[in-house]
Amino acid sequence: MHTTELSFDLRDDETLVSSKIHFYKNPKYQAGDNSLFLDGIDLELISLVIDGERVDYELSDKGVQLRHLKGEFVLEIVNRIHPENNTSLNGLYQSSGNYCSQCEAHGFRQITYYLDRPDVLSVFTTHIKAEAGRYPVLLSNGNLSSASPGQATWHDPTPKPCYLFALVAGDFAVLEDHYTTLSGREVALKIYVEKHNIGKTQFAMDSLKRSFAWDESRFNLEYDLDIYMIVAVDDFNMGAMENKGLNIFNSTFVLADPKTATDKDFINVEAVIGHEYFHNWTGNRVTCQDWFQLSLKEGLTVFRDQEFTSDLHSRSIKRIEDVNALRTFQFAEDAGPMRHPVRPESYIEMNNFYTLTVYEKGAEVIRMIHSFLGEVGFQKGMKLYFDRHDGDAITIDDFVSSMSDANEFDFSKFMTWYSQPGTPTINIKTDYDEKNECFYVEVEQDNEFDYFLPLNYALLDDQGSTLKEGVLTIQQQKQTFVFDQIKSMPIPSWLRGFSAPIHLLSDLTFEQQIFLVGHDSDAYVVWDSAQQIWLSLILTPNTARELLFFNAIEKLVQTRQDKSLVSEILTLPSERFLHQKVVVIDVFDIHQKREEMASKVLGRFKSLLLETYHSLNHAKVYQLTPEAVGERSLKNTCLYYLSKDKGSNPDLARTQFEQANCMTDQIAAFSALVASDNSYKKQAISNFYQTFEQDVQVMDKFFAVQSTSPLATVADIKQLMEHELFSFNTPNRLRSVIGGFTQNYINFHNQSGYEFFTDIILKLNQSNPQIGARLVSVYNHWGRFTPVLKQLQKQQLERIIQSDDLSNDIFEIVQAALK
Ligand code: BES
Ligand code: ZN
Repeated sequence: MHTTELSFDLRDDETLVSSKIHFYKNPKYQAGDNSLFLDGIDLELISLVIDGERVDYELSDKGVQLRHLKGEFVLEIVNRIHPENNTSLNGLYQSSGNYCSQCEAHGFRQITYYLDRPDVLSVFTTHIKAEAGRYPVLLSNGNLSSASPGQATWHDPTPKPCYLFALVAGDFAVLEDHYTTLSGREVALKIYVEKHNIGKTQFAMDSLKRSFAWDESRFNLEYDLDIYMIVAVDDFNMGAMENKGLNIFNSTFVLADPKTATDKDFINVEAVIGHEYFHNWTGNRVTCQDWFQLSLKEGLTVFRDQEFTSDLHSRSIKRIEDVNALRTFQFAEDAGPMRHPVRPESYIEMNNFYTLTVYEKGAEVIRMIHSFLGEVGFQKGMKLYFDRHDGDAITIDDFVSSMSDANEFDFSKFMTWYSQPGTPTINIKTDYDEKNECFYVEVEQDNEFDYFLPLNYALLDDQGSTLKEGVLTIQQQKQTFVFDQIKSMPIPSWLRGFSAPIHLLSDLTFEQQIFLVGHDSDAYVVWDSAQQIWLSLILTPNTARELLFFNAIEKLVQTRQDKSLVSEILTLPSERFLHQKVVVIDVFDIHQKREEMASKVLGRFKSLLLETYHSLNHAKVYQLTPEAVGERSLKNTCLYYLSKDKGSNPDLARTQFEQANCMTDQIAAFSALVASDNSYKKQAISNFYQTFEQDVQVMDKFFAVQSTSPLATVADIKQLMEHELFSFNTPNRLRSVIGGFTQNYINFHNQSGYEFFTDIILKLNQSNPQIGARLVSVYNHWGRFTPVLKQLQKQQLERIIQSDDLSNDIFEIVQAALK
């Protein structure tokens, strides 16, 4: 397709879409055939002409079939759509009365008939007509070529697939700035938000400028248009979307100020702004040939946004958080019914494949390539990649070939990471030969495939000094490595920085693990060793070991400078993570065991926790430096434990709640107050509400804190849904209340919890199946629960699959779960 010219006439009770598409036959895709099928869903066709003449066509509910086409022609279509009734939040829809669009993966076919596939690129021109009073801002991709009240025309010179198309019309306030690129090009930067939010946009703008600068300095990549726009909307299925020159964001990832956003929120805003910006090269200029290649853009762009955050904040803490999320959620996905390779092989509904595997495991795979090649080699590969493929729609193989060719590095064995689902397990056994001063390491893969991976390691002496460090290249089922001139038995530190996304089983003793917590210079290994110990002590209590570990923890709290790291180490593995580590999930048992460990920590460390808490609890001007973030993080971890103490609860939390100068402290105190029965709880809820009821983002937290409280019952959740600020069709609010409840293990997992939840899924099946499919995935692990809960979940899945009119989205998840 050469060009696509679209005209939108936005009216109250309908929108008319006219398209004029200049087609030419591409021998690569349409060989021998003179027919064409254009995708179209929920469209009302008004007229269709080719080269100005009426032609025959066949309409179905999936699109329109055209036949007997010439090698080159102009197709003109007029169709009608109803954004005012669109609750799916795909295609063109409304949020707070403004129009916006979401086209990835298959939303464009809900706008007009088109070749809705990522490898068909076209130059777009977009005309928008709407009532000037209510929709003063009219936006689309590219540069503004003309505008008058009630009308605008945009032209995007860069050919693009239709999934990157965007349209916005509404009444917004705008924050404007500009950026001068490395080569001196001026780019206008604009962030559009609903008017009452304009005061919360500065951080997003600063993040955007940091994104431009970082991509120039680290990847030597510059922006290519004269304007970069971001629009924030309250109703959005995902986090944000990288539409060319016109990103559309879930407002949660734009709006931030210290009073309403936590430290994590700030860093997330910056990361998501970065992510969508980085897609301009990795995704937009070089895009996917088909949706199976999704990780080509998403895995790579997640890797880039992780590096962005690492370069700007604490690299070690960022790594620990990412690894924790990967192991808690992606490993679970990899072990469940929806397991799939980083490059999936089939799908019923593409939206179901925007997964942790494609994104986070995909990013780990890129990280391993980076480890093998080093930063310089990786950048050489990226340069060749853009030299070869700028402007193309390509495959993951093309990406790996660029990396390979630029470095003369053979990645053929590495491709297992893209084609095999599941998490490999690696076993390490060691032996020290004192006489010959040799240390033997045997590495064995516990799976049928020989994965090719970098295993970062160090050998430490008994003072914690590094004797040797490096990377073992693992590529066979079993390999032995010999280290000579090792004068005394070393303590090995394995998988430093989590150099590969694997389960690692080693023969480290409990004492050696404790040693690593105290002495390793690799923050990930310190944290991971502590996690392994927490895990074993929670699941199989052992007083002697506990004492040893607590002694090590005490020393660490007193001596470690990095407060964030101390906080991470003091944080127990989540219930969700523990669920993965048992054969049968008994939600009550796990909850109780974890609570018991929390009480033991409090019992042993009460005074140290209090002392630490008070030493960190001083009023300061809000800053987002790693030090300040670390102080708040550790302080609030102390508060978490201290609030379990009948003596200091609710006073400590109450004082913090009333005096907090930032949302990080406010929400930590609020959560502590809501999680327990105490005299101040009711008042805290009503004070919090009165202070923040105008703020959509804070109200999402307000709901989530209550729905996840271990004291919240199904009746409480139903009451939250009666709240005047609850809105079923706003995904963020639904995630806070319903998504929150599904993570509330001890209250969700019973018959009435399930029945209530399934009713909601069936409602979402009609209104927003994409969100329904994401939520219903909570049943994926039904087979691993205790017999009664297992049976009850299965009944719910059967009830869903038997219901009429099941969407592809929900059907695909539920049938996989039942298999
Ligand atoms: N391209 C996606 C947005 C998207 C996802 C559109 C699924 C349609 C279906 C975007 O670049 C993205 O990946 N967004 C993430 C956030 C990001 C920081 C990982 C999201 O929305 O969760
Ligand atoms: Zn993305």
